Amino acid sequence: MIAMTVVDPVSSAAVSIHGFMALRPYAAMVAVRHLQRTVLVGSQKGGVGKSSIVSAAAAMIAATGRKVLVVDADQQANLTESDLGADGDGGRSLAMALQYGTPLDPVRGVRSNLDLVAGGPQLAVVGPAIATQGGSKVHDNLAASLGSLILAERYDLVLIDSGHGDVSLLRVLLQIARYLIVPTKDDDASLHGVELIASLYLQARANGALIQLLGVVLFDANPRAKVRNQDVVSQVADLLRGSGAEPFEAFIRSDKAAAVDLRNEHLTPAELVEAARVDQQQRIRMLRSLDKKPRTRLWSRDPSGLAADYQCLTKEILRRIATAERNRASRAVVS
Ligand SMILES: Nc1ncnc2c1ncn2[C@@H]1O[C@H](COP(=O)(O)OP(=O)(O)O)[C@@H](O)[C@H]1O
Ligand SMILES: [Mg+2]
Repeated sequence: MIAMTVVDPVSSAAVSIHGFMALRPYAAMVAVRHLQRTVLVGSQKGGVGKSSIVSAAAAMIAATGRKVLVVDADQQANLTESDLGADGDGGRSLAMALQYGTPLDPVRGVRSNLDLVAGGPQLAVVGPAIATQGGSKVHDNLAASLGSLILAERYDLVLIDSGHGDVSLLRVLLQIARYLIVPTKDDDASLHGVELIASLYLQARANGALIQLLGVVLFDANPRAKVRNQDVVSQVADLLRGSGAEPFEAFIRSDKAAAVDLRNEHLTPAELVEAARVDQQQRIRMLRSLDKKPRTRLWSRDPSGLAADYQCLTKEILRRIATAERNRASRAVVS
């Protein structure tokens, strides 16, 4: 098999690239070096928490001072419009980059240290473009555009929300990203979604992709259903056998009231905790002043448990990336 070696800019380790990746044009090869901290939150299944997790984790990491880019690769643009409340370009810049390798034009400062490549309906052209141009051309285009942006803006981390349904785009994203996180709910249909993405992941690796599965995370889970959750985690562990990844210890609890507030108000979980505190204070003040019944603005009274879950997950994601980088560096020293 054709193989070549590039230098990992994060660990300075030599990374061996084989298969069709080794046949890439130089621009795409160079771009690979800048995509080292690109994390895909992916699944073909909708409603399993991809956008929610990307929004929450990106905002938490950005709040620590790291510069973060999020890429909304979904035509529905939930991440862009509902979660982050940004005014995007309908997915135009991302669609153009995928088709022609043109420069990406992110929405800057959607939060402090956080930029966004917006999603939207213009991404509908990408499926047909992949069918005519081929996945590897579209991959090279995005690798070059995203690699240049990361280099120019010096992002510490890139999080991609895969959207769902569009398998051809998902395959391209699996070739681009360095890490994969798969969210799932505990129902059979969602667990079947884990199986599907696991097989796409293995195909991508067989085709020479550098992507590494970081883990599967349980979303919308009942924190009191410990036995049920343990059962689901062991089912997921079975599905992951051979991938080298373990399910995440952190999980995201079910909190419908907070979920409604997060999207209606375009807040991240940490912002919702603060908003709920202010809301509560205002409510108490109005009650004391014997005014007419206070108008409830937020549904959630205490979203701090949900925010704590996202905090645990975010820490675990960063720990796993650090471990993967250390392992790569030490493998490079040994070989
Ligand atoms: N903690 C939660 N508990 C229950 N439902 C949630 C929670 N967080 C988000 N949701 C809701 O779950 C649905 C799916 O989440 P989303 O992040 O959009 O998934 P995906 O991006 O995989 O389609 C949305 O309607 C969202 O409001
Ligand atoms: Mg989504």
